Amino acid sequence: MSMKKFNNEFSNKNLGEEVVLKGWVQKARNLGGLIFIDLRDRTGILQVVVKPENTYYSLASKIRSEFVIEVKGTIIKRSSINSKIENGDIEIDLTYLNILSESNDLPFELINTTALEDTRLKYRYLDIRRENIKNNIVLRHKVTSLIRNYLNELSFIEVETPILTKSTPEGARDYLVPSRVYNGKFYALPQSPQLFKQLLMVGGIERYYQFARCFRDEDLRADRQPEFTQLDMELSFVEQEDVMNVVEGLMKKIFKDFLGVKFDENILKIKYEDAINDFGSDRPDLRFDLKLRNLADVFKHTEFDLFKINGNEAINCLVVENNISRKEQDKLVEFVKKFGLNKLFFLKYENKEFSGSLVKNLSDNELKDLKELLTLKGDSTIIIAKDSHHVVKKSLGALRLKLGKDLSLINEGEFKPLWVVDFPMFEYDDEAKRYFSAHHPFTAPINTDLNYLNEPSKCYAKAYDFVINGYEVGGGSIRISDPKLQEKVFETLGLTKDEIKLKFGFLTEAFKYGVPPHGGIAFGLERIIMLLSKTENIKDVIAFPKTASAQCLMTEAPNTIDDSQLKELGLKKENL
Ligand code: AMO
Repeated sequence: MSMKKFNNEFSNKNLGEEVVLKGWVQKARNLGGLIFIDLRDRTGILQVVVKPENTYYSLASKIRSEFVIEVKGTIIKRSSINSKIENGDIEIDLTYLNILSESNDLPFELINTTALEDTRLKYRYLDIRRENIKNNIVLRHKVTSLIRNYLNELSFIEVETPILTKSTPEGARDYLVPSRVYNGKFYALPQSPQLFKQLLMVGGIERYYQFARCFRDEDLRADRQPEFTQLDMELSFVEQEDVMNVVEGLMKKIFKDFLGVKFDENILKIKYEDAINDFGSDRPDLRFDLKLRNLADVFKHTEFDLFKINGNEAINCLVVENNISRKEQDKLVEFVKKFGLNKLFFLKYENKEFSGSLVKNLSDNELKDLKELLTLKGDSTIIIAKDSHHVVKKSLGALRLKLGKDLSLINEGEFKPLWVVDFPMFEYDDEAKRYFSAHHPFTAPINTDLNYLNEPSKCYAKAYDFVINGYEVGGGSIRISDPKLQEKVFETLGLTKDEIKLKFGFLTEAFKYGVPPHGGIAFGLERIIMLLSKTENIKDVIAFPKTASAQCLMTEAPNTIDDSQLKELGLKKENL
């Protein structure tokens, strides 16, 4: 028996041919005695026609939507051509019909569905029959194929790494798997294959990639899933530029081949500090110009108490060429509260004059300097924030994105890639009262900052993120390959010698046996597909996604387990 052909393998070039089709009934209708069946398979629809004199007419009249059928027939020209669909100029004159499987009425319409997302997720196999989900799955396959070909050409090797493993430090909570053999001990599902890929470099693999399943128990967002896939890469004998060149080439090809979008030859590189200062974000959306402006100089000697800043504070503004009504202003103030900012100041600039209740608090010189600094020309609104540096950047960064959307400043059809580079090595956590790695503890400091390991806040890293339209699509770094330096970094992070041995003993041991200089990067595969398929919902690009509360509505995972399973694992119910 030969495999079926797909509907899109036929066209008006096959007129008169006898064919066999298998698929689902999208729609069956009786029009003036003729039965028309829209037969759908993965590739599209072909119309089948059954005349009243046909032996299979009565069987055909039993057919309902979503039945699975087998049809034989002759390809003929359609009398009324449907130019809206592919193959709308041909149809199949049925000579044989077999119903392979019947279907109940579906819980939701597949075309122009209005079903709630939860219903679609419960019946995900039906949702996958819908054009856009199916297209995303096909696109994802095509993108991974392209990536494989591209990297294979560059002598990369695809290697799989364990899923049952030891905790890796990517900063989220681990998903844990209890061991039956060693009661009381746990495997962790990998948050990324970070340590394994470094050990592959110690193992001499030199160029590695993998479509790696990663698991992170963290708060979910529209672009985050608890289980996701990284295009994970690691290279030996490279510097930062080499890693960047390889992946730039790959990203350019993906966006060119799938969207016809041409990235700039030289992709923009922005330092982390500049990204935060100008855009209030380490993943800036560059599809619109709006920048945060620093007003510290203008208000250096201000008499206005609310604008006086001390050591760790900042005063910044955003300027928009729109009038913002009182009601809208209140909404913006409400919005920034989520980011810890309690107040926004609004200054109107109209007919070359400042107005608004704030004006009386500011001196003429301050207003003059403000006008000059902001190079105000047309009517505008100046939105000012003063608070701690962190709160100002975070709030205005978020407000910038909101205004970008609300005021239609974003050119939706555009793609603006950039590298964010020179990240800090460490971040101080006020609660834990210690430094954490900004990327991960295996990231190398910038050569000139090696002496700053004792002053962690001044130390920057050979770390880089690839950002498109406000999404952190990928992130990586050059790694530490000197065991002494690695130890020093662990110490800066407050790890004792015993803790280092317990957590990363296998890595420090490996580093005693000849380590090539190495570095790498990991891309969020789903985020790439989201950009290509122009969806803002990560679930749309995963065949069987989880909800925002990490549930699978179809299988109902996570679920309870038998007492006998618990016992085997050495777990007690009262502890759960
Ligand atoms: P990082 O933690 O930055 O780096 O992750 C790399 C990329 O993975 C994607 N990503 C996610 N996608 C969907 N859902 C999530 N929960 C999620 N978390 C992360 C992002 C991100 O840029 N081992 C390092 C990489 C390296 O140093 O080589 C790592 O995992 O697109």
